[in-house]
Amino acid sequence: MTDTEVIATAPASRRSSMIKIHSAEDFEGMRRAGRVAAECLDMLTPHVKPGVVTDDLDKLAREFTLDHGAVPACLFYRGYSKTVCISPNHVVCHGIPGPRTLRDGEIANIDVTCIVDGWHGDTSRMYLVGDVPARAKRLVDVTYDGFERGLAMVKPGAHFGDIGHAIQAYVESQRCSVVRDFCGHGVGRVFHDAPNVLHFGRRGEGAKLEAGMVFTIEPMVNLGKYQVKLLSDGWTAVTRDKSLSAQCEHSIGVTETGAEVFTASPAGLFRPVT
Ligand code: MF3
Ligand code: CO
Ligand code: CO
Repeated sequence: MTDTEVIATAPASRRSSMIKIHSAEDFEGMRRAGRVAAECLDMLTPHVKPGVVTDDLDKLAREFTLDHGAVPACLFYRGYSKTVCISPNHVVCHGIPGPRTLRDGEIANIDVTCIVDGWHGDTSRMYLVGDVPARAKRLVDVTYDGFERGLAMVKPGAHFGDIGHAIQAYVESQRCSVVRDFCGHGVGRVFHDAPNVLHFGRRGEGAKLEAGMVFTIEPMVNLGKYQVKLLSDGWTAVTRDKSLSAQCEHSIGVTETGAEVFTASPAGLFRPVT
């Protein structure tokens, strides 16, 4: 290693905690990746019916991803062995597809991340399985409305704490709770990058948003208390009090005037009609 290389690489150890600023070309890459991920969730919609086997949904997602020249980011990520996470009812996140079926009256989150030309498109949405009780539909609505209040904060000069505060204030006003143990994240060429994007917090706290930042907002909202526990498979997170949980996630970029959502549903299916 030459001296110049040592100097050039010296700041690298600090880079992991720095928030990257992306170019217009990078945004183009995020658009392509985000589109495939959103289309994958669109494709799954008619398949999410009572009796569907969650592993079959995973297979559909894997084939769709590969058919679109993309790589499933979750497959083999830290030992994870599926393409999507499917989190029904009281599962908060990271539910593992398998022989379990989805049953009439359940709600389920499906989370997919597709890599296109090295860029990660990370998005999740809620699916209503058959005839869903009103209190579950209300939770799903509160989750989307909370997400949108967070998204509305995104513009240069705002703070990450403004996003978390907006989500928490709304969710708690609806007598629901925001999960603390999982957060959104910087995304791009790296799946989980700096910063941590908390879905709770105080106005004015945290880093300042700048045009070119790219991250996810992905609040998990519980009907009961916010505490979660991890099952023995090392992945599945569930609510401690067994209350229902919902989540929605988009990959977004900060623009000069606000936010660009890279994972908007081309079919307009992001938010289930409740
Ligand atoms: N897509 C998830 C997120 O929103 C991460 C899933 S990692 C996995 O960040 F390994 F569980 F798939
Ligand atoms: Co994410
Ligand atoms: Co995700």
